[in-house]
Amino acid sequence: MTLTQPPPTDLKTLIDTYNHRTRTSKQLAAANRAVMADKSAIGYAFSPEIKELCYPIVAVRSQGSRLWDIDGNEYIDILMGLGTNLFGHNPPFIKAAIEAQLDQGIQIGPQSELVGEVARLVRDLTGLERVTFSNTGTEAVMTAVRLARTVTRRSKIAVFTNSYHGHFDAALMRAPLSEYARKKVMRSLQARPLLAPLAALMQHFQGTRAVPAALGVPNAIAKDVLVLDYGNPKSLDVIKAHRHQLAAVLVEPVQSRCPELQPRDFLHALRDLTQAAGIALIFDEMVTGFRVHPGGAQAHFGLHADLATYSKIAGGGLPLSIIAGSSRFMDAIDGGPWQFGDNSAPQIPTTFFAGTYCKHPLALAAARATLQHLKDQGPELQHTLNQRTTDLVNRLNAFTTSADIPIQFTQFGSFFAIALTQSQIPPSSLSLISYHLLNQGIHLRGGDRGGFLSTAHTSEDIDRIFQAFQTSLTPLQSKSPL
Ligand SMILES: Cc1ncc(COP(=O)(O)O)c(C=O)c1O
Repeated sequence: MTLTQPPPTDLKTLIDTYNHRTRTSKQLAAANRAVMADKSAIGYAFSPEIKELCYPIVAVRSQGSRLWDIDGNEYIDILMGLGTNLFGHNPPFIKAAIEAQLDQGIQIGPQSELVGEVARLVRDLTGLERVTFSNTGTEAVMTAVRLARTVTRRSKIAVFTNSYHGHFDAALMRAPLSEYARKKVMRSLQARPLLAPLAALMQHFQGTRAVPAALGVPNAIAKDVLVLDYGNPKSLDVIKAHRHQLAAVLVEPVQSRCPELQPRDFLHALRDLTQAAGIALIFDEMVTGFRVHPGGAQAHFGLHADLATYSKIAGGGLPLSIIAGSSRFMDAIDGGPWQFGDNSAPQIPTTFFAGTYCKHPLALAAARATLQHLKDQGPELQHTLNQRTTDLVNRLNAFTTSADIPIQFTQFGSFFAIALTQSQIPPSSLSLISYHLLNQGIHLRGGDRGGFLSTAHTSEDIDRIFQAFQTSLTPLQSKSPL
């Protein structure tokens, strides 16, 4: 059984079709390259074989589940603003809220009248005590980590492999390559029943060391970060051993890079352990927040973090992020509550937090419309959408099983993806699936292996998504004559 990428003739057809359909996007990428430094133009992994595919689609319009590119191609969008558009593109109630605020002006500096209402909506939906606002997910996670360090007076943080927390220095850490090699050996041992005890032994000796995941990130930052296996009970032992140095454990409760891993028991044990040790448990709910349930992954798993960070859905398409949590940590923003007319004053030492565009009136208007809509609709909205995603994933898995394609799809809420851990197909071949989908009018980014459904996707849209996946996956059939 050979599981390789389609042979060059197929690759050539794929590239020619894509280049022809999206020729203006390609021309613009070439014309802009000298002046605009653009990471998205080189795709996930630049390689000479797929160089001619390495440019982003230029979008000119979007509405509901649809998006149109500069060459006039219509797509059913499953990128959905990288997960921001839970209600599809340009939903009338969010558009109206933004337009109304635009009429009132954009007042940066003075307080927005919407700020308290949006904070209360976040509190009501998530059950977290206090709330503040910033602009991007990166900023929110960075702030949550700083709050944890301020309050605990400790400096180390623990993160987990395969999670993504944005691009501030401490978030750009990974396990050393020796750790990946160890896991590879472990996987091959696990596959041989006689050697499985050896694999179990190796599992015991997991590393904790972090190294910078990108050039320009100082080694010095890595000294304060532990990178641990997600969902592995041994990681709890490591956290326990470092409990006096750890300010926070930072978790992406279900990782976009690995949605098949949904370790409920591990998360509960982690909650108990961090609580007992006074370590801040930070849930990064950028993707899971308001998606899997109005209360996000915390409601789904039945626990509360000390701090949680949100963005994407909450901003209704505009840049807004949220840091929310218990007073113990959030009071480090403003010193804690006090009253006018008496001698009360902020009690808690504060850290630094600021940002010109925090509490941007347009973003708050979009957030108010979004969160109020979610509150009005209740959990049924997520329940229905999640079920539609489950139905799609079940259909896709029934297809891959019956066609003998060694791929399984997985989902969390309305996000679905090819499960990497269960695929025997190299990631480079998986990344070509996205271009097959684009050629069939399903929009995502080149290299993506999954996407988002929104409440705007109709049953017909979902049928077309399924059919496009069917066609795109067929070249990966194990006994395919291709
Ligand atoms: C879980 C998670 N955390 C943090 C971030 C960073 O957010 P931003 O891109 O808004 O900085 C992302 C972005 O996708 C994310 O998925």
